[in-house]
Amino acid sequence: MIDVSAINEEQAKKELERIAKEIAKSDEAYYQNDNPYLTDAEYDKLKLLNEKLEQKFPHLIRADSPSKRIGSPVKSDFKKIVHTIPMLSLGDIFSKEELADFVKGIQRFLNTEKDIEFTSEPKMDGLSFSARYEKGRLISGATRGDGKTGEDITDNLKTIAGLPHFVEAEDFPDIIELRGEVYMSKADFFELNAKYAAENKKPFANPRNAAAGSLRQLDANITKERKLSLLVYTWGEVSNLFWQSQSEFLETVQRWGFPVNPYNRLCRNLTEIIDSYETLLNTRADLPYDIDGIVYKVNSLDLQNRLGFLTRTPRWAIAHKFPAEKAVTRINNIRIQVGRTGALTPVADLEPINVGGVIVSHATLHNEDEIKRKDIRIGDYVTIQRAGDVIPQVLGVILEKRSPEVKEFEFPKVCPECGAHAIREEDEAVRRCTGGLSCPAQAIERIKHFVSREAFNIEGLGGKIIEQFFAESILQNPADIFTLEARNGGDDLFSAANGLHLENRDGWGKKSVENLFKAINERRKISLPRFIYALGIRQVGAATSLLIAKNYGSFAHFMEEMQQNHTEKLVSIDGIGEAMAHDVTEFFKEEHNLLIIQKLLAEVQVEDFVDNIINNSPISGKTIVFTGTLEHLTRAEAKAKAQSLGAKVAGSVSAHTDFVVMGADAGSKAKKAQELGVKILNEEDFLQLTQQ
Ligand code: IVH
Repeated sequence: MIDVSAINEEQAKKELERIAKEIAKSDEAYYQNDNPYLTDAEYDKLKLLNEKLEQKFPHLIRADSPSKRIGSPVKSDFKKIVHTIPMLSLGDIFSKEELADFVKGIQRFLNTEKDIEFTSEPKMDGLSFSARYEKGRLISGATRGDGKTGEDITDNLKTIAGLPHFVEAEDFPDIIELRGEVYMSKADFFELNAKYAAENKKPFANPRNAAAGSLRQLDANITKERKLSLLVYTWGEVSNLFWQSQSEFLETVQRWGFPVNPYNRLCRNLTEIIDSYETLLNTRADLPYDIDGIVYKVNSLDLQNRLGFLTRTPRWAIAHKFPAEKAVTRINNIRIQVGRTGALTPVADLEPINVGGVIVSHATLHNEDEIKRKDIRIGDYVTIQRAGDVIPQVLGVILEKRSPEVKEFEFPKVCPECGAHAIREEDEAVRRCTGGLSCPAQAIERIKHFVSREAFNIEGLGGKIIEQFFAESILQNPADIFTLEARNGGDDLFSAANGLHLENRDGWGKKSVENLFKAINERRKISLPRFIYALGIRQVGAATSLLIAKNYGSFAHFMEEMQQNHTEKLVSIDGIGEAMAHDVTEFFKEEHNLLIIQKLLAEVQVEDFVDNIINNSPISGKTIVFTGTLEHLTRAEAKAKAQSLGAKVAGSVSAHTDFVVMGADAGSKAKKAQELGVKILNEEDFLQLTQQ
């Protein structure tokens, strides 16, 4: 890790920016696409570095700092549910030393040397939910979301076996929110992935993602088909809170008929806590589900209340994370995958091995430098690690086991798919194929991306089918998808001569072809954010596409601005930097991209973006820039408030800015606003506007 003590202000500023972007990108991948790419360890490391840098340079703390957020913003497709009592997260510890410090810290805080009772509960690796009961009846369910607002998953939650829809107990409070974790067992995860593989669908990386992907389905019928389970471990709002400890709560909910983890323990002192840790660590691989640690909670609610909360985590509880699970196996081959943007990614094919109950047969090698740095070679024995999330990592080579025949790996300088030069640009870790869309791998990956869940979401066009269709020139680019039906030829004898007649292919039939065409035709109308995302512009993920859609409103307007190279508005959007804006404009300079867009627009209708939040507030549709320190609101709150009232929040002042809200010690932005004649408001003005 970077040496924080040696870093200067300039470097720290750059580093904080890099971390904020990286974490935001990772959060998007993790929470919105259920498809993480950083390991938990890498993620934690970035967060830690951020924290240290912020401690040293508090004035450099960014408005979008990862330290100011829990989780990720709520996906817009779901209705929202505001948690009357926020769903918090927990602080992490990784060692027994930290555990002892945690317990001592609590004793110090309470000014006592007496032993304190804790519950020790397996930390389920799923996703948390909150279920609200009124007069015994289950009335709504939500995900955690960002902790304050979650997604309405009532119908989905109701499909999970084990969650009572009605509770009749005498002492069941009139209003109670029960909270816990939804998860998928390892066995059900394997079964689902096997089914996915048979249907040529991309498998889920791990049970947690499978659970998230299954729960967050707009169509609850899909959730019903997946085998999800849940456990209860805490509560939110309660009208009549009569239990006096966490253990009493757990007994009570169990009596009411809710599933509670049988491995929960009550520990009387540190020795018993450590004992519970050791025991669970040893049972871990045999458990039917993934756990990533243990949660310790002060048992007495009186003590919990005295201890209270830190900013976003309780002082009375902590998560003790388990070390990632490791194993040794052989690298059978190193394959180079070519992605949608031409990036060459090395992947290790491993001798399959069981790591903590999950069979692993591939590991990511990241990039060229990583292979060199670790000197990884085909035929080597390596230590791999599965950290709950993401594809497993190769930690290092076991040199004693290296056979003399093993040769250094030479990273290809040409694309293994199309033979075009593969080059590395300055400052870039990845080597990229220069073949563009003439590279079959890039073309195929772009079509796969185009039909993927967050993009056009076309069921029935799996990866294998796209590859076949591409090889047979049935599909060359995304636009061809929409002419498939016309080219297929129906029962009409006259057109039959040249038709594709997909129904006659092996494994296909009339019904499956009809279903495919139906799925395609249902997408002839598409939302603006999905359309932008589907184009597959480098660096432009689902969240960025949404930002672009919000700021431009229509595809025609966005495209016009890009073609004329007008980037001023683009870079003023909070969350879009110079580099990303560059990639966007470059995309629109490529002739073949324009051609495909033109063909697509002939087939599909892109809906203008209408913000469904609020459009009759005094600030709806306005672009606001905040600067300086606000007195009554944090920057994040002010931003959220503005956005919830339909305003757009930009990071820099331009001619497109409607208001600049100025706090104390405002700097250059205020000056720029004056120069441009942009209306300046103080915090009071802003609050008044938002209260109207
Ligand atoms: S208690 C205020 N108990 O861990 C404390 N959380 O990092 C609220 N989790 O979002 C959480 N098992 O998804 C608690 N036995 C358990 C848990 C647990 C898993 C998850 C939960 C939470 C995250 C916190």
